[in-house]
Amino acid sequence: MAPDPEKFVSQITKEIRDRNPRLIHPLWKTFLERKLPVGAVRLWARQHYAFLYHAPMIISRVHSRCLDIEFRKMLAENIATEELGMGDPEQIPHIELWIRTCEGLGISREELAEDTPLPETTEMINWLYECADRSFVDGVTAINFTLESVVPDIYKEQYRIFRDHYKLDDRALLHFRVHMRDDVEHGNFAKRVITRYAASAEDQRRIREVVERTLAAEEKMLDAVYRQGVLSAQTGS
Ligand SMILES: [Fe+2]
Repeated sequence: MAPDPEKFVSQITKEIRDRNPRLIHPLWKTFLERKLPVGAVRLWARQHYAFLYHAPMIISRVHSRCLDIEFRKMLAENIATEELGMGDPEQIPHIELWIRTCEGLGISREELAEDTPLPETTEMINWLYECADRSFVDGVTAINFTLESVVPDIYKEQYRIFRDHYKLDDRALLHFRVHMRDDVEHGNFAKRVITRYAASAEDQRRIREVVERTLAAEEKMLDAVYRQGVLSAQTGS
């Protein structure tokens, strides 16, 4: 028999936290020890730019497949927040916030515009599009639940390190402040969706599969950044 949906959501939330590559991957462990070379941070920042560039379009596909009016409105708000900076006094689109973080790390907006992401990053982005195309629930599970719901926790420590160790200024740090606030709401929204749609054992199996594959795609992308940004830099290859 399938566990009660609320129990399922709290179990899987805990698993996402315990196994999240953004907490346990060697790349982030090195970062948390303040030992990650700035070149590796820049390489990761460029991958994150590629992801953020596509995120509103992925969410927009999820929105177009949502038949529930209340949830659809929340996705529309999510898109408006990303694209127009809605909800923030300065109304800065979120891609612009990240460009400012990248500039603080020494990457120009021209470089970002011309950049080609690593193949593993493209693979992760393609997987997220696939989830969005499969169904509203799969899309929310991948983007809002697996990726966004842990952001507020992860960013608290990252924010301090970017500020104190990598010396980012307020302009470059705004991305983190905005997301520590907004992604609490996005994570809660995702939990409500999953609680509603995880009634049967088959629903729960499918949600779990999306979580697993999303975590694996993110891990693969971080592996690639670690190989290129840390290991190759050490051996000089
Ligand atoms: Fe955002």
